[in-house]
Amino acid sequence: MSEDNIQSTLHETRHFPPSAEFLKTSLLSADKVTDLYASAERDNEDFWADQARIEIDWHTPFTTTLDSSNAPFYHWFPDGKLNVSYNCLDRQLEKNADKVAIIFEGDAGDVQQITYRELHTRVCVFANALKAQNISKGDRVIIYMPMIAEAVIAMQACVRIGAIHSVVFGGFSASSLKDRIEDTQAKIVITADGGNRGGRVIELKATTDSALEQGCDSIESVIVFKRTGHDIAMQSGRDIWWSDAISDQSSVCEPEWMNATDPLFLLYTSGSTGKPKGIQHSTGGYLLNAITTMRWVFDIQDSDVFWCTADVGWITGHTYVAYGPLATGATIVIFEGVPTYPDAGRFWAMCERHGVTIFYTAPTAIRALIKQGDDFPNNHDLSKLRLLGTVGEPINPEAWMWYHKVIGKEHCPIVDTWWQTETGAHMIAPIPSVTTTTPGSCTRALPGIDAAVVNEQGEEITHANEGGYLVMRQPWPSMIQTIWGDDQRYQDTYWSMFDGKYYLAGDSARRDEEGFFWIMGRIDDVLNVSGHRLGTMEIESALAANPLVAEAAVVGKPHDIKGESIFAYVVLKGDRPENGIDDELTQILRAWVGEQIGAIAKPDEIRYADNLPKTRSGKIMRRLLRTIAKGEEITSDTSTLENESILPQLQGKA
Ligand code: WTA
Repeated sequence: MSEDNIQSTLHETRHFPPSAEFLKTSLLSADKVTDLYASAERDNEDFWADQARIEIDWHTPFTTTLDSSNAPFYHWFPDGKLNVSYNCLDRQLEKNADKVAIIFEGDAGDVQQITYRELHTRVCVFANALKAQNISKGDRVIIYMPMIAEAVIAMQACVRIGAIHSVVFGGFSASSLKDRIEDTQAKIVITADGGNRGGRVIELKATTDSALEQGCDSIESVIVFKRTGHDIAMQSGRDIWWSDAISDQSSVCEPEWMNATDPLFLLYTSGSTGKPKGIQHSTGGYLLNAITTMRWVFDIQDSDVFWCTADVGWITGHTYVAYGPLATGATIVIFEGVPTYPDAGRFWAMCERHGVTIFYTAPTAIRALIKQGDDFPNNHDLSKLRLLGTVGEPINPEAWMWYHKVIGKEHCPIVDTWWQTETGAHMIAPIPSVTTTTPGSCTRALPGIDAAVVNEQGEEITHANEGGYLVMRQPWPSMIQTIWGDDQRYQDTYWSMFDGKYYLAGDSARRDEEGFFWIMGRIDDVLNVSGHRLGTMEIESALAANPLVAEAAVVGKPHDIKGESIFAYVVLKGDRPENGIDDELTQILRAWVGEQIGAIAKPDEIRYADNLPKTRSGKIMRRLLRTIAKGEEITSDTSTLENESILPQLQGKA
């Protein structure tokens, strides 16, 4: 763990108890919350078993709560059977058939409303269309879609028939798409002609075509939803329009009854090696925590309009767009576009237009909007909002205070939710009706979640504000099941550091005097750029794959909107450009990384050197590179460097 990660400098003393206004309508009383914690404390497994019986409609009830016989491959509710789509849709029909499930707003401002009844029908029809394309239980399906209602319909249709979806964010490149198709051995891609973002068209079908040209032999067909209507190529025998695929399909589709431990979906995320990991989630346990956190953290109620701004390409868009809210019968907002189009008031205009009551977004979006000034939010009626949330990275107290005052008008609690792709659902977060929050802290672990901060030896750190490793000491229902096709990597990454006893989150954290958690940063080589995880190794491999590049090292540099920006040091095969700067080449390499991974991974800055700083054993000294990227003086000992003379070049001084 690098030193900058374990030293804490933040001292925040402001405290915000739940407002009287929020408490007027909130669901969870202080007594109820005390009960939840107490019963989880008494017997963790019984606690989750009770929750699972209350929250899930089981086709076959489970008799075993947790099978730990093959730890760390934990199996929750192993003999229970259920279907997630049934729990999200069918069970709402009795009371809520005519309730709006989805309010969709397109980039250009077009709005559609879909009731639970309609959503159920459309999911069933599309599920039958998938069956007609030869998709059945256990098959993998790639979804590469814009942020439109059909993306959720496609996800729900997969889980209805027991197919395993893997959603690929629409901003990823052909090459990233190809890697995911090949790793999953998917039979089908569901995509669109394109998506609309900020007035521009995102070429999804063309990118899919180029991925499929590079291999992907497992793919038998491609379903294409017509969204933009612009010209695209359709390959006969392989590609079929969504509208043709669903014509003549019945609206009756019996859900496939799945084992609780059957894979529900795969979602790829960056790790410390060059290859993204296919995080595998379960059916029963995942659904359970998606639901419990909707109740505990979001206080979800029948009258709420819930808007989580995340794209379905990320875990947040799975748990808090496609599954959790629907499983609790909520009305959700889905937005195709970007927060700054047609202007920086778009989020607030939409909150007003659709009467949003709960709003959940990323600190990076908040910081970007702060820069645009208070007039944008102030020009809109935000009085329906009652609860705000953040996710993806630590929120800096200034941004928190702005969110609290300018958006929440000082009466909406803010839930700062810590969790990960691997955890499936919130782990450490306030319960808004009881927690007194403090800006920058995700506060306490939720009931049934045993989070702790430990030292290298695995001993709990009891000193306030001393940093250490964030771990989970007990399994929880929505936990990662494995890494798709790589059980060994699952064990090595998450369990080996503490000999299988604790789940290693990969974050460093501290606890303050009250026991509140503060996340301090990643301990591995993973960057957090605009709330998105990017592996430095992934970007380095992409750079090194360019014929001009001999070697590259990538580090994060603090950035006031994105959280971190990407700083790359590159050694060329040919001569180093004068003074280590070459704007033209930098543009070429940025575009190259964009093609290899996606636009989010493009380095913000590139500095060219004759060599990288290495120890005598050949290890790149990343901590030194981080210091240099920040433009700070080097105070650490550099005498162990094999090539100390390289420093001025790396600093841009030679
Ligand atoms: C970071 C996103 C501080 C953390 C749901 C974690 C956070 C990684 C917070 C997971 C938060 C997420 N405060 N840091 N509230 N939420 N993180 O898998 O480093 O995309 O390990 O899941 O984001 O990112 P992922």
